[in-house]
Amino acid sequence: MILCVCLNPAVDTTYVVPDLTYGATHRVDVAGRRAGGKALNVARVLHQLGEQVLATGFAGGADGAAVLDDLAGSGIEAELTAIEGQSRRTVTVYDGRDATVFNENGPVVLDDEWQAFRSLYRRRLVDASVVVVAGSQPPGVPVDAYAQLTTLARAAGVPVLLDASGPELRAALAARPDVVKPNRLELAELVGHQLEDLDDVLAACRTLVAQGAGAVVVSLGAEGLVAVTPDGSFRVQVPRPVVGNATGAGDALAAAVARGLRRGDDWPDRLASGVAVSVASVTVDLAGATDEELAAALLPSIAVESIR
Ligand SMILES: Nc1ncnc2c1ncn2[C@@H]1O[C@H](COP(=O)(O)OP(=O)(O)OP(=O)(O)O)[C@@H](O)[C@H]1O
Ligand SMILES: [Mg+2]
Repeated sequence: MILCVCLNPAVDTTYVVPDLTYGATHRVDVAGRRAGGKALNVARVLHQLGEQVLATGFAGGADGAAVLDDLAGSGIEAELTAIEGQSRRTVTVYDGRDATVFNENGPVVLDDEWQAFRSLYRRRLVDASVVVVAGSQPPGVPVDAYAQLTTLARAAGVPVLLDASGPELRAALAARPDVVKPNRLELAELVGHQLEDLDDVLAACRTLVAQGAGAVVVSLGAEGLVAVTPDGSFRVQVPRPVVGNATGAGDALAAAVARGLRRGDDWPDRLASGVAVSVASVTVDLAGATDEELAAALLPSIAVESIR
């Protein structure tokens, strides 16, 4: 099973509006209201791809119960540590071109709740083939939480894919996650300067490898991705740019790479299927879903280029 760690799940509502006007009142169509948070999006895509998943993290209050209900309704197995605080809500407003996102920070997690989660996680690691840790940490959880989870997984011999940013990613690098998946902005923030061209992106990836990452997969939106891995460095371009809701495309990419880790695919295959699944996800309005038929149709046209 692929263990998906979502410390800060949310009830995620997507509104669709014809035009988004600052300061105006909008009548909105609700395109979806469901459990979200990056690692839950990853879990959904993995489930869609036929992988066995277990979603884990924290849930509190009525919205926490709604998260659990929704996961159960989607057929996604979940075990969440109960907390006193209220799980958060997020809102995405999609106007047919761009997505505008409002993310609540999330509830304060108490120290004994964090310890309870650590026990659950250790117990579930036993049956995990891969761990995906993704998204933001709720307040109260230690800044090195992702480092702790990475260390525990590595001690259990389970590879870790981490999709985080800022101080949480920085703190986790020393624990040697097998794969990290920043986007261009997150990578730039981490190395502290803008990434103008491919050489800058590659140099930044190598900095992260020097700091402990086993492999770095940088997603570059419609430009595809660049990866520095133990088997070489690669660039994969998208077969064609897609207009759609790109929120969650990175989560679809993470899901496909995690499946590749679970299957023991080689790096070029992991990356090609990552691009296929993520490009196809952009055509689907909701985050946490892809178009499997489109992904399969795109895969043969995706070239993985070795770079130095
Ligand atoms: N407009 C697009 N057209 C085609 N493919 C896209 C487009 N945007 C993203 N992708 C695909 O999705 C992957 C991930 O995209 P992106 O870099 O936007 O991730 P992200 O910023 O981490 O997204 P999120 O965190 O919202 O999931 C890219 O590597 C690419 O394969
Ligand atoms: Mg992302």
